[in-house]
Amino acid sequence: MGNIKLELGGIAKFVNQNEIDNFLALAPVCNSALHEKTGKGNDYLGWVNLPNEISDKQLADVNETANNLRKLAEIVVVIGIGGSYLGAKAVIDSLSGSFDYATPSIGNTQIIYAGHNISEDYLFELKKYLENKKWAIIVISKSGTTTEPALAFRLLKNDLEQQFGKAEAAKRIVAITDESKGALRKLSENEGYKTFVIPDDVGGRYSVLTPVGLLPIAVAGFDINKLVAGAKKMYAETDNSVSIDQNLAAKYAAARNALYVKGKTTEIMVNYNPKLHFIAEWWKQLYGESEGKEEKGIFPASVNFTTDLHSMGQYIQEGLRNIFETVVSVNNTKYKVQVPKDEHDLDSLNFLAGRNVDDVNKMAELGTKLAHIDGGVPNIRIEIPEISEFYIGQLIYFFEKACGISGYMLDVNPFDQPGVEGYKKNMFALLGKPGFEEDTLAINKRLQAE
Ligand code: PA5
Repeated sequence: MGNIKLELGGIAKFVNQNEIDNFLALAPVCNSALHEKTGKGNDYLGWVNLPNEISDKQLADVNETANNLRKLAEIVVVIGIGGSYLGAKAVIDSLSGSFDYATPSIGNTQIIYAGHNISEDYLFELKKYLENKKWAIIVISKSGTTTEPALAFRLLKNDLEQQFGKAEAAKRIVAITDESKGALRKLSENEGYKTFVIPDDVGGRYSVLTPVGLLPIAVAGFDINKLVAGAKKMYAETDNSVSIDQNLAAKYAAARNALYVKGKTTEIMVNYNPKLHFIAEWWKQLYGESEGKEEKGIFPASVNFTTDLHSMGQYIQEGLRNIFETVVSVNNTKYKVQVPKDEHDLDSLNFLAGRNVDDVNKMAELGTKLAHIDGGVPNIRIEIPEISEFYIGQLIYFFEKACGISGYMLDVNPFDQPGVEGYKKNMFALLGKPGFEEDTLAINKRLQAE
């Protein structure tokens, strides 16, 4: 046990304490605006209280549904995109064994994903993979109208019904969507699917602690009660009653904004454990969609070290100096592996004999931090004691809270995403969707002129 730690020593060469304090001074107002629901986008602040509001009854319902699916299926396909799949994938990947996917079975249910791309090859291969297997579907869409998941669901629902018959297929489908609106709600009612509700006031990228994340995570065999308990602890530690110099989310938000105004416009999330790869993917959506608007915002990027030290390391060390790193470091590994002694020592690694592999990893992390600071890259370090449901729950809520505060410091609405509509309008116009006739004419004219 231990606590999540935030270390800001690695940015001291680049911003002084006053510059951080100027942003920290804004944090109480920003944090209160989140809790009191007085800031921009205040109709989407349901996530702030989620860890406290999820009842035992709701968790029991999610767990019971997950157990039913685990008894029915060796594979559950989670259909969703953006905030409707990244949170679940981030948590499941971080907690899963690296090779668990290779041995799906009833009770050890494998989670796979669909509806997060429009690749014909992906869907063909998925359909083939599912043939004659025992499988089920969790379909997630708040709006119920997003093209990617709707398309995947249409295809897979058809396959499921052909394989199991309509009545049995309906027992193998769980839908998570709006309480009353949208095509998925209507379809679920018509077909009699088990459903869960995405609250109106929780946007996709803040929804991992609703059934959107909790159901797939529970189906994958993880303890959602502990995940929520972790989030609840971080809620208490970042509440607006907590003094701002004790509030890690406020300090992280202030540090990154201080770096941003000094020209550090790209933040790279770094891990030294591949299990955290999708935590960074989730974080990129959270920060990118929340802050990237009105022609401002830090660009969120990510790397997996030490793997990417052999690809992106050169750029980070010596490329354009507009970047800073935020390292998520795991203090304790789950397992121990020691370097064996070798009689001939042809690889010259005997100096490491008897030491744990993680010692090497930790020295790689420290060495990289120092080298990158020397190269002009500020380093924020977030340490979690271990990868477990409890600490991943804390980490999720920490990043969500910091994102809300940071967005308000930047003076944007961190809870909308108007910019994602542009591509949809063009795609529908190009595909000739009914209702888009004028856009179709305009886009065809434009393409002819180009
Ligand atoms: O954060 C968001 O709101 C988006 O990423 C959505 O989650 C994503 O577009 C999917 O939307 P929906 O759940 O309505 O299908």
